[in-house]
Amino acid sequence: MREQLLKLKDEALAAIVNAPDVATIQEMRVRYLGKKSDLSLALGGLGKLPSIEERKAMGALGNELKQAVSAALDDREAVLGEGELEVRLAAERIDVTLPGRPVRRGHLHILNQVINRIEDLFIAMGYEVAETRQVETDWYNFEALNIPKGHPARDAQDSFYMTDDVLLRTHTSNTQIRYMLEVAKGRTPVKIICPGRVFRRDFEDATHSAQFHQVEGLVIDKGINMATLKGTLVEMAHGLFGAGVGIRLRPSYFPFTEPSAEMDISCIFCKGKGCRTCKGSGWIEIGGSGMVHPNVLRHGGYDPEEVSGWAFGYGPERVAMLMYGIEDIRHFTNSDMRFVRQF
Ligand code: DAH
Repeated sequence: MREQLLKLKDEALAAIVNAPDVATIQEMRVRYLGKKSDLSLALGGLGKLPSIEERKAMGALGNELKQAVSAALDDREAVLGEGELEVRLAAERIDVTLPGRPVRRGHLHILNQVINRIEDLFIAMGYEVAETRQVETDWYNFEALNIPKGHPARDAQDSFYMTDDVLLRTHTSNTQIRYMLEVAKGRTPVKIICPGRVFRRDFEDATHSAQFHQVEGLVIDKGINMATLKGTLVEMAHGLFGAGVGIRLRPSYFPFTEPSAEMDISCIFCKGKGCRTCKGSGWIEIGGSGMVHPNVLRHGGYDPEEVSGWAFGYGPERVAMLMYGIEDIRHFTNSDMRFVRQF
């Protein structure tokens, strides 16, 4: 039996040294050491040996041989493994000297830059930035702003209705009511600037878009009057267009203000002399304003006998178009990178 065991070991060792790869080593482990290996089967015959001493001796030898085979397998596997690792490393090597692909750095869209600038001007004057929802109920978008159902002013703001009562807001003026009721709750002063997206069922052309932005301003306190409105608008115009620009308030009508005024800036192109852009008038209209209507104050939970306020609203797209000579409002939303990258 001894000879048989030693022969099996020698055969195994000879094969192991020539194993070509790690997968073969794994097969050999089963073939030479598994339960059905020749070595295991031979050792299974131990019980038939005549004396206890012989059984012990052969058992010990068997274990020794198994360990030797196992160690040989481990050694060969280590050698092959290292070789295979080297091959893989060589095949998968990354050339770190190749120049990388440049990552293009983005920047804020020109419209957001202009809105940020407007916000900054007002923050410097002690205003808070307030924003609210774009999907609004009829009450916040119209009724609370003194535009009851059937009021002709609704025709001027062709709306996207989701249901009879819910629509995409047509202006940022809903923020006035939401801020009064949900944030200020009767406290004074209220000083907010409200940028945001608004929606109208407009046919698109160079100056109309179905979605655009507005910036709303609202001030409420004791003794607020149109003089402070004008002073604030002058400050804003100077901040945006430069110190030489003037403001003109022109009587107008809005349901939510009384009195109401259209706000114009002096033409930044001809300095008020009259040109094509201002159609010879020397003035460019940028938005609406006025003293907050008593009904609006009441709807916001304020007593018009106690406090007064003013408000304004205008489109930052129009401001950006004037500031940068952009000739078509559709540039802001069509994502043409030749436009976007210019600013
Ligand atoms: N909401 C008006 C519009 O969309 C703009 C406006 C005019 C807002 C006068 C005001 C205001 O707050 O006082 O046409």
